[in-house]
Order: sequence, then C-alpha cells, then structure tokens
Amino acid sequence: MKILVTGGAGFIGSHIAEELVSHKQDVRILDNFSAGKLKNIRHFEKKVELLEGNISDKATVDDAVKGCNYIFHQAAMVSVEESIKNPVKTWDINIKGTLLVLGAASRMGVKRVVLASSAAVYGDTLALPKREDGALNPKSPYGESKHINEMNAEKYLKDFKLQTVCLRYFNVYGPRQDPDSPYSGVISKFVSAALRKERPIIYGDGEQTRDFVFVKDVVKANLLAMSEKKAAGQVFNIGTGTETSINSLWKEIKKQTKSKLVPIHKAPREGDIRRSFASIVKAGKVLKYRPEYSLEEGLKYTIEWIKENSS
Ligand SMILES: NC(=O)c1ccc[n+]([C@@H]2O[C@H](COP(=O)([O-])OP(=O)(O)OC[C@H]3O[C@@H](n4cnc5c(N)ncnc54)[C@H](O)[C@@H]3O)[C@@H](O)[C@H]2O)c1
Repeated sequence: MKILVTGGAGFIGSHIAEELVSHKQDVRILDNFSAGKLKNIRHFEKKVELLEGNISDKATVDDAVKGCNYIFHQAAMVSVEESIKNPVKTWDINIKGTLLVLGAASRMGVKRVVLASSAAVYGDTLALPKREDGALNPKSPYGESKHINEMNAEKYLKDFKLQTVCLRYFNVYGPRQDPDSPYSGVISKFVSAALRKERPIIYGDGEQTRDFVFVKDVVKANLLAMSEKKAAGQVFNIGTGTETSINSLWKEIKKQTKSKLVPIHKAPREGDIRRSFASIVKAGKVLKYRPEYSLEEGLKYTIEWIKENSS
C-alpha cells in the first residue's frame, strides 16, 4: 500500500509522513520546498520516496499520485497575509493544486483523500464553539480557497465516487513549526521571543482566544479520517474544544521558559477574530478523535524543540 503526503516536508505533513513511516507504510512525499525543509524529514528521508515538484503542475501531480492508494493533501500556500497580497498565486496552489490532486486520485483509483482544510473557513462568524454545520464566512483568499476545496471534495465524491474527508484544523502548533517565518503561529513566535529574551508582541488587549491543538493530535485525526469508514464525504473540526486567550498562552510560556519579559501591546490587527474554538463533538463521535495533549504538555515539547533548533 502506497500513501502520498503532499506538502510532506512541511510542518504538519512531515509529522504525518513520519507517523506513517513508523507504522512501516510505504510513503511518497510531494513538496516543492517553498516552505518545507529537508531537515524536517532528514531523520526518515531514506525511508520515503521524495518527489520535488509543484502541486499546480498536472504532470507532476499525476506522477505523484500514480500507484498510490491513499493521499494526505497538506500542500498549500498557508499564509493569510500573503493570500491577500497574492490571490492569484493562492488560487493556483490551493484551488488548482487541490483539483489536480482530486482529478488524478479519481482517475487513478485512489481509495481516499484526506484534505487539510482550516478554521479560516468560519471567518468572523459569531457562533461559538464553531460547528461544522454552522455558517461560513471566510475573510481572505486563503480561507476562501479552503472553502472552495471543501466544496470540490464533496463534488468529487458525488460525481466521481472518490472518497474525500476534509479536516478543518484550528491553530496547530508543535515541533518543526518555523519560528522564523513571518507567518508562523503565535506559539512559535512567543517561545522564540522568550528564548531570545525579546519582548513578545500582543496585538490588542490579548483577551482574544484561539483553540491551540498539538500537531501529534492532528496527525492522529488524519489517520482516523483515513481509516474510519463513516468519515467519507464529511468535514470535521480538528481542535481541542477549549479556548485559550493570548494573555494566558503567554503566561504559560513565560512560566515554562522562566521568562521575566513584559509583552509589548500593539494596536489590534485589522480583521483579527475575537474568539475562536472548535466543537469537536462530531470528530469525537464519528472519528473517535480525542485530543491527548494538554497545552502545557504540547508546549513542553515545542519549547524543547525550539531550544534545540534555534541558531
Ligand atoms: N498550521 C496551522 O495552524 C494550520 C491551520 C489550518 C490549516 N492548515 C493547513 O495545513 C496544511 C499544512 O500546513 P503547515 O502548517 O504544515 O504549513 P507548511 O507551510 O509547513 O506546509 C505546507 C507545505 O506545502 C509545500 N508547498 C507549498 N506550495 C507548494 C506547491 N506549489 N507545490 C508543492 N508543495 C508546496 C510547502 O513547501 C510546505 O512543505 C496546509 O494545507 C494548511 O493550509 C494549517
């Protein structure tokens, strides 16, 4: 059995690929290394087939999908900010790239495709917690692209009987999330600031909330989405079901890094969503998904990794 992980040299994709390799699965990675890094997969590189190429090139995707039974589709342009500056590029990588994956998968008899979607599809809707059957109002080309991908995934199931499952990740964090990327999550930024003894920046009053989910729990959700029969054709939130304010996140990081730094408060960012957290009831019922890592524990691993890997 062969499994393709697109974006497999990236943060989440490399953890999925590593987990599959640890279960002795035959893994192929397609990545163009625009954000992914060889060092993310170095320790298991010899055990995977690595294809370097662009997800929005048909011949490349066809080659990558050929012979595969399952696909975890993670490759994407992941930055909301960049998507606003460059919607055409976002369309090309996220929407066209996903359509090429779905098209090749249906032509070549792939059994199931699990797609990385995002909480960004909810945008600024007010309902809390966010439920899969609630309103969607994506506010950026990135969020829109993820919404369109979900609709296309559904279409491929209806029209071509290709099994698809979409996972709406909330705020994923953990080892290998690049703290130096301007688009990196707030956790990597706070930890890296604390370790460099630089004051972290908090936009607004810091009482805005997010649902921070450790990357290993996201990997687990992906494997469940691949194996659970009833998951086909469905969309699931993948978070922890709890909300954490940016202030309390900093408090925990401050404690774990023994930092005495005082954050710098800047004006709230335009369009910043006030509160966000997932209902994981559906993922619990259908996928038997239960997040296992508390924020405290997940942060411990993340801090260790950033300590070991910062230059
Ligand atoms: N990290 C999060 O909190 C989060 C939240 C919601 C959704 N997601 C989604 O999860 C997936 C993985 O995100 P991540 O956080 O690991 O980001 P990442 O940037 O580390 O991973 C994306 C990978 O895709 C590759 N890639 C980008 N463009 C490509 C192209 N044109 N051709 C081939 N490969 C290409 C990159 O090199 C990278 O390795 C993405 O689809 C993202 O939208 C992530």
